[in-house]
Amino acid sequence: MFEKCSRKSISENQVRVNTNKGDKYYADLYRKCRKRIDYLRKKDNFAQEDFYARLAQEGISRRDFFKWISATTASLMLPVSFEPLLAQTIEVINRVPVIWANFQDCAGNSEALLRTDGPTVDELILDIISLEFHELLMAPSGEAAEQQLADAMTTFQGEYILFVEGSIPTADNGVYGTIGASGETYVEHITRLAADCAAIVAVGSCATFGGVPSAAPNPTGAKGVMDVVTGKPIVNIPACPANPSNILGVVLLYTMTGELPDLDPLLRPKFAFGTRIHDACERRVHFDVGNFVEEWGDEGAQKGYCLYKMGCKGPFTFNNCPTVKFNRETSWPVAAGHGCIGCSEPGFFDKFGAFEKPALYDSSYNPASDVFPVENIVVNGGK
Ligand code: SF4
Ligand code: F3S
Repeated sequence: MFEKCSRKSISENQVRVNTNKGDKYYADLYRKCRKRIDYLRKKDNFAQEDFYARLAQEGISRRDFFKWISATTASLMLPVSFEPLLAQTIEVINRVPVIWANFQDCAGNSEALLRTDGPTVDELILDIISLEFHELLMAPSGEAAEQQLADAMTTFQGEYILFVEGSIPTADNGVYGTIGASGETYVEHITRLAADCAAIVAVGSCATFGGVPSAAPNPTGAKGVMDVVTGKPIVNIPACPANPSNILGVVLLYTMTGELPDLDPLLRPKFAFGTRIHDACERRVHFDVGNFVEEWGDEGAQKGYCLYKMGCKGPFTFNNCPTVKFNRETSWPVAAGHGCIGCSEPGFFDKFGAFEKPALYDSSYNPASDVFPVENIVVNGGK
């Protein structure tokens, strides 16, 4: 499942998700997952967690939990037969150690992960993953923090998943980002952390494609992880912030299979980034018949018309925001009344900088077509 790390053009993202891999593929995958879960069960250097006791404590019924299992199995593009495996995966999810490192960022992805409005099944699972190091969440600081990181890297050498939040400043020998008393540059830091990890998960627009820090003129030479680290399996979960459900999906799949999920050419998991915002948008019918909001607060806005003319970049953006949503599935940007600003695409900010100006498209565009002719589009990204 690992794919070679490479950066390709936006038009190459137009992959259709292959949901029909055949019985043999799923039978082999099932056996592999079974073996992996048995292996994780036998690992003895992790605390035993009674997840069902935690669920009961938080007032979440088993019925609701198994409803969540069904929905999550489907969203990870797995057949129904994998539901029991997914439930068993959660029982051993704390046996995959995680090190979370922050670089040039606002910590918005960590904040999104920490939502405090009350526990959901997602939040409970994220609560019990074996987070060995996270600068924002842990109590130690200074030398004690450095020691904790060193201990985690030694104890779980070759086993830990390295989550990276933030871009890496590379200009002028990396002087724009250093960490610790020794003045280790971020480039050196990520190279050291990556050397002994099993895989890297780049979280958020900055860690994946450079994000806001890499916007022109990019004085710090900010880059995404895949442009700095070589020789390691990498998965990108872009967006500003990355959706915690997608982070959890990657952790679940990795725990269950021991591998990263199927990725698109930009190393994004296909289960989350296989379709465009535009294809699942609740306002799409208005786009197709030509009902547009023409100015903020007009009658069209009140009627929930399409936001394309107000700058929505949903036709250019691959992500599952309309289906997964945010804040306990209550809303997402377009539902809240503003267009998608393309925050999960490479070039976000410069290319999609004119957030409230429409992208232009040529006369060959056929709204009924499955494929939006990205290569023919001039995105109005001027500032
Ligand atoms: Fe939805 Fe935006 Fe597409 Fe309109 S242009 S249908 S608001 S995603
Ligand atoms: Fe970002 Fe667009 Fe989703 S702005 S959060 S990709 S709706």
